[in-house]
Amino acid sequence: MVNIIIDGKSVEANEDATILQVARENKIKIPHLCFHPALKSSGSCKLCGVEVVSAKGKSVWMLSCILKPKKNLVIKTNSEFVKTYRKKTFSKLLNMAPDSGRIRQLAADFNVNIAPPPDGCIRCRLCIRVCNEIVKAKALRMVKIHDITMVGARPGHCIGCGTCANLCPTNIIMVDDQDNVRTVSIKGQIIGKLPLERCEGCGKMYATSTFLKHVEQSTGLHPDTKTHHHFCSSCIKLLSTRATTERERIKK
Ligand code: SF4
Ligand code: FES
Repeated sequence: MVNIIIDGKSVEANEDATILQVARENKIKIPHLCFHPALKSSGSCKLCGVEVVSAKGKSVWMLSCILKPKKNLVIKTNSEFVKTYRKKTFSKLLNMAPDSGRIRQLAADFNVNIAPPPDGCIRCRLCIRVCNEIVKAKALRMVKIHDITMVGARPGHCIGCGTCANLCPTNIIMVDDQDNVRTVSIKGQIIGKLPLERCEGCGKMYATSTFLKHVEQSTGLHPDTKTHHHFCSSCIKLLSTRATTERERIKK
């Protein structure tokens, strides 16, 4: 048996044990994931790193699941030095397993602030830019929720055109047409919920009334027409083909 100092406390340690085991026996908590008492330590997860302070006061980071006790060894398990390495190690593990609840819980137990789980948005802001610059509905903006900046809705601004969903490179904006209502949402957050209008040609629900009004207001009437017609893209295609055929027939 030898005496070692862990977090300023003198502790008796079996030389055959590891520092992690000694810490566990003395109810000193060190995070670890790849240690198993029935197996040889592998040093894979690197979470159990501790600060070892030499007689000259120099600090080194060592894995407590491998390190063996030596007389007068000075160990710190929760110093700023350890916290810096610990945070980096948690981040590396979460890069490999971003949805692991166990790693996230362990980080929380040791007060390590880590990046939130990925939400599928790459913050390219294409959705916001197209909505502001082209559609001009200004229905989206960046918002800060619990220190995380994400795409959020400006209530009452969405016109249900779906342009944001068409442009989103990661396909996380959803457009769902059900019971004559279009719902646009991002990760469960509703951006807009708007009634749909029927196509004058085939009767299919095809666009929101708000979108059609927006187009009318933005474009105005064509000098040759008295009203705006509401046709879906399939009917417009059909009508233009008919018009072309008719023109060609007249020319002949
Ligand atoms: S929701 Fe899609 S388009 Fe908008 S910022 Fe995120 S990834 Fe880009
Ligand atoms: S417990 Fe995984 S490296 Fe020590």
